[in-house]
Amino acid sequence: MAQASAPGKCILFGEHAVVYGHPAVAVALDQRISVNIEPSKDWRLDGMRFDAARHPHIKSLLQRLWEGGPPLSIKIQGDIPPASGLGSSAALSVAASAVLRCAKGRKVDGDRWAEGFSSTQPNNVYHGPWTSKSGKQQIQGADSVNTDECAILAHAVEAEAQGGKASPLDSSTCTHGGCIVLLDQVDETLDWLYTRSLNGVKWEVHSVSLNIEEDVWLVVGSTGIHAPTALQVEKLAKLLEKNPERIAEIETIGMISRRGLDSLVKGDMNGVGRAMSENHLILRNLGLSCPELESLIAAAAPTSLGVKLTGAGGGGCMIALTKDPKATSEAIELAGGRTMISKFGSAGLSIEYSKDCPLWKDSE
Ligand code: MEV
Repeated sequence: MAQASAPGKCILFGEHAVVYGHPAVAVALDQRISVNIEPSKDWRLDGMRFDAARHPHIKSLLQRLWEGGPPLSIKIQGDIPPASGLGSSAALSVAASAVLRCAKGRKVDGDRWAEGFSSTQPNNVYHGPWTSKSGKQQIQGADSVNTDECAILAHAVEAEAQGGKASPLDSSTCTHGGCIVLLDQVDETLDWLYTRSLNGVKWEVHSVSLNIEEDVWLVVGSTGIHAPTALQVEKLAKLLEKNPERIAEIETIGMISRRGLDSLVKGDMNGVGRAMSENHLILRNLGLSCPELESLIAAAAPTSLGVKLTGAGGGGCMIALTKDPKATSEAIELAGGRTMISKFGSAGLSIEYSKDCPLWKDSE
């Protein structure tokens, strides 16, 4: 049996524009999803019969990592609301790929992984408690887990769900935690992790260590409206197809993200807030907001440094950057939203335990 968890994420700048290769910045939230698997006589999900059609992310990961393997009982728990722009599906995919890899093990052939994947990153970027480098607890089977592989698999599964149009922003943030920045070229001043490309779009994925001295918080306000990312991405693609000149707005989002990132790196939180609010105006103009998001945003604005929708929009969540999380949260709740408060940049993927792993090896 094995259990892993991964954080949700919120996008500070650049959602949607990042799908077209423009810069974007996301941070991991304190809210997480954990996935537990154990051997079972038949396939189960949260105690019920597993219906693969209702769980496309799990289905796709099982096809990639567990084809022909014995039945499992899978349990999913967590406090990231689904389809709300907070990376619930990416966190689920990251945690599920880690437990499946733990349970399957990995055959190492000399210094090569038996199942190759295009890693440009040495296998030493563990964020879980199992890393020997940090001197923390060693967990049996966890050394077969590679964060790069989990991030790649989660991106592949997200791309499948979004009709081939998906950036690696959610999958990388939910894997590595902290603050993740996607750019169109390598930035030597940040920690470059790897290059990803999909359907002709290329992203340079970086992580940034944040040094925020001010006492600022992120308040996330949920409209409670489920807004599938795939539909929103498709809606924007159609708008751009009909009005190709509107790509200028996407480029402007990219420039705002770059400016917001510079403020974030300097710890200038007023600058971060301004960039967030400007970013929101463009997203709204592109038709990606909705009246419910607008009313939560209007309620949060007076007590915040910056406010915007986060994620795909059309429902889901907004975020406020604030020095007074209590006042901002109350204002959002009065306007009908449900709130969560988070600090910036929580820890990434963590293997919580692993017992009797590997459970199954297909390539002895
Ligand atoms: C969804 O969380 C973020 C989007 O930019 C889609 C993506 O990056 O794949 C809307």
